[in-house]
Amino acid sequence: SHRITLGPLVAAIDQGTSSTRFLVFNSKTAELLSHHQVEIKQSFPKEGWVEEDPKEILQSVCMDRTCEKLTQLNVDISNIKAIGVTNQRETTVVWDKETGEPLYNAIVWLDLRTQSTVERLINETPGKNKNHLKHKTGLPISTYFSAVKLRWLMDNVDEVREAIVSHRAMFGTVDSWLIWCLTGGKSGGVHCTDVTNASRTMLFNIHTLDWDPELCTYFGIPMEILPRVRSSSEIYGLMKICSNRKSGALSGIPISGCLGDQSAALVGQMCFQDGQAKNTYGTGCFLLRNTGAKPVMSDHGLLTTVAYKLGRDKPACYALEGSVAICGAVVRWLQDNLGIIGSSEELEKLAASVGTSYGCYFVPAFSGLYAPYWEPSARGIICGLTQFTNKSHVAFAALEAVCFQTREILDAMNQDSGIPLTQLQVDGGMTSNRLLMQLQADILCIPVVKPSMPETTALGAAMAAGAAEGVSVWSLSPEDLSEVTSEKFEPQINPDESEFRYARWKKAVQKSMNWEM
Ligand code: G3P
Repeated sequence: SHRITLGPLVAAIDQGTSSTRFLVFNSKTAELLSHHQVEIKQSFPKEGWVEEDPKEILQSVCMDRTCEKLTQLNVDISNIKAIGVTNQRETTVVWDKETGEPLYNAIVWLDLRTQSTVERLINETPGKNKNHLKHKTGLPISTYFSAVKLRWLMDNVDEVREAIVSHRAMFGTVDSWLIWCLTGGKSGGVHCTDVTNASRTMLFNIHTLDWDPELCTYFGIPMEILPRVRSSSEIYGLMKICSNRKSGALSGIPISGCLGDQSAALVGQMCFQDGQAKNTYGTGCFLLRNTGAKPVMSDHGLLTTVAYKLGRDKPACYALEGSVAICGAVVRWLQDNLGIIGSSEELEKLAASVGTSYGCYFVPAFSGLYAPYWEPSARGIICGLTQFTNKSHVAFAALEAVCFQTREILDAMNQDSGIPLTQLQVDGGMTSNRLLMQLQADILCIPVVKPSMPETTALGAAMAAGAAEGVSVWSLSPEDLSEVTSEKFEPQINPDESEFRYARWKKAVQKSMNWEM
């Protein structure tokens, strides 16, 4: 059959907390040509624990299905010139480099098993200061980051301890695990990570852009198990996969882009200027604001993180980040744990049927509270219930919770930078919920702008891969990309009404932090 030639194509692996996607873009137009998505199983073996199977994560990289779809479209797969990787950050994997086998499940970023370790570490710092390591890492000591998860694995899993003693252990976030496997695994896989993922481990000095021996000593981590840190856009290695799979067709293609998913979304939304920001609604919700070449330390509970470094000789750009642990996860909870909806689409209908929470507030602090509070002992609450409250009101309160949490980080961001955002660029799965988007504009009192191509995270990783030295099929200047079409949601309610609800929300948050007292 006739094959269509489109010029160079670039692919991306987007490995998120809840699902994995493989996507292919046209590098001339940034058009998404084909994609496929596979859900990931999460297990909750004990209260507060969240694990995933690293092998399932690897298998979920559904290259075959995406390539099949491309072939059906008569697109020649051999036009794919580069592959980028973007991933859920912080999630921690340790594997044996000789057998290629993971030594334990991946401990997911949301996991709370290290809460007591974190509390002990904070209590031991001078002045019980959770920001004790912030000057180097940009991060508070928290259950969220990889170092404490890795420490837990070393203290609790014999296989991990033994592999370290016999020099067979490799540590990585999900990007490292995938790149190692896809470039050959035990027969010559490349053990690396990029600066953005490294900046979420708490072992990385965000100023020197290298692993920090003092931090490694602090957490008792042997440096030899750490991956080599590279920029976010360079050739790390070539795809090597068994020839009996169709995606054997991708064999030999360079893997040349790597960014944590929130950084990738910043790139995909073209937030290259100091002051530009985006908010992504995934399993969690993450607002990042580009601060240019300088790392800005927050006084209001935000993180300082490496935004991207698009080439070995390019400078690093930094971002201020507000991280919210629970966003899409609350939808899944309403579905799987309460059973009040059968799918995420039903949530919008249910909430829209009442159009108000009727004074009900839902703080989904399932994993403690992240920004701006960093309170691991907080727990979820639903309050303000009356005889009249029904599941529709609870559904509405869950959507409002997402919006209020974003408002809290936006306020912190505005205070830190002194220059308030005048509109919010958004992306991520939940942005297809139009009620949520309208509510978000109402609660922020600024317009919310959503691009028509929702896969901005994957686009960012694909752009980084295509722009790498030695690949160079994609220019990173926004002018070269076709006009981004978007949809704008304008605030529709009176700001006083918005402030009133927000003040109530703040009270509910206080209760979630003191619910034991
Ligand atoms: O820090 C965790 C973050 O990278 C996860 O993103 O989209 O899977 O919620 P997401």
